[in-house]
Amino acid sequence: MSHKVYFGHELTAQRSTFSSTEKKDYIKAVQCLAKLPPKTSKDVCPGCRNRYDDFVATHIQQSFNIHVTGNFLTWHRYFTWAYEQTLRNECGYKGNQPYYSYSRWYKDPTKSPLLDGSDTSVSGQGAEGCTNQTFTGIPLNTDPRIKIPKGPGGGCVTSGPFKDWQVNVGPLFPGSECAPLNPNQDFTKPGYGLGYNPRCLTRDITSFSGEGWLKDDDIVSLLKSSTYQSFWETLQGGPPATSFANNFMGVHTAGHFIIGGDPGGDFTASPGDPYFFFHHASIDRIYWIWQNLKPSERTKALYGGTTISDLSVPATLQDKLGMGAAFGPQITIEDASSTMGGAPFCYTYI
Ligand code: CU
Ligand code: CU
Repeated sequence: MSHKVYFGHELTAQRSTFSSTEKKDYIKAVQCLAKLPPKTSKDVCPGCRNRYDDFVATHIQQSFNIHVTGNFLTWHRYFTWAYEQTLRNECGYKGNQPYYSYSRWYKDPTKSPLLDGSDTSVSGQGAEGCTNQTFTGIPLNTDPRIKIPKGPGGGCVTSGPFKDWQVNVGPLFPGSECAPLNPNQDFTKPGYGLGYNPRCLTRDITSFSGEGWLKDDDIVSLLKSSTYQSFWETLQGGPPATSFANNFMGVHTAGHFIIGGDPGGDFTASPGDPYFFFHHASIDRIYWIWQNLKPSERTKALYGGTTISDLSVPATLQDKLGMGAAFGPQITIEDASSTMGGAPFCYTYI
């Protein structure tokens, strides 16, 4: 075992199909996390009320340095893994983070076991809400290059395990125009998006993004990307990256807008909806498949800058990935490039 192994070294396999008992154990662990005290200090995150909020806060804080950047895939791999580890280490969860199979449910995500609103789901559709809004804009409502028509939801989720879920921080760029904005919207000051803003979980689940970008063919054509640059661009809504030109949303953005709403439709606060981790486990799996089609040339492939949509300072394999107060220690992009490298990861997908 090398000195680089700082975490548990058990080989685990991530899956999408869970028994009812496994689903309930997972849900119980997420709810447990929301009852533990936060580790982020009050000065850094005045709105953080629990351990789950630590994860939302670190994502908000780093939003402009982890999206449309070279570390996008490795940072989110580490984030999703750190969340799974925290469910295990602090809430007694024994299983793995499941992923969501987009293409299986693209016609109607509310039919999926994940979003059907049952007591083994992460809750489902929101009540009818925000009826003045006719569309959600991608990338932003104020800059709608793609318009997702309003669906039947938009209000608070009303059934399932997360009907009483309290979202505490964000939003900054909510998909829902009815969401109360965070009291700290000032980007020139640290702590933006981290003021206390308690509210319910809202969703507007529609088939729009699934029909457009999450069918089997869409995933397969993404996986056919021959270079890391084209994979990275196509996944995130390019090329050119994230311009969302030609009405192209890409698998990553489409996966977020299956649910929309608040905080799901905000690229900064989106982890505030527990659906987030099923989506990002799936993104990680797609990255893993793409890497393993040609592991020797693709595992450490890298492209992109260090600030959102800005290629001027290229990312390097030595760049650090940090989880703030949510999880430690910092690792490098290189450490996170392999799920089997043992530093720190040791998992595969089935
Ligand atoms: Cu993110
Ligand atoms: Cu994302």
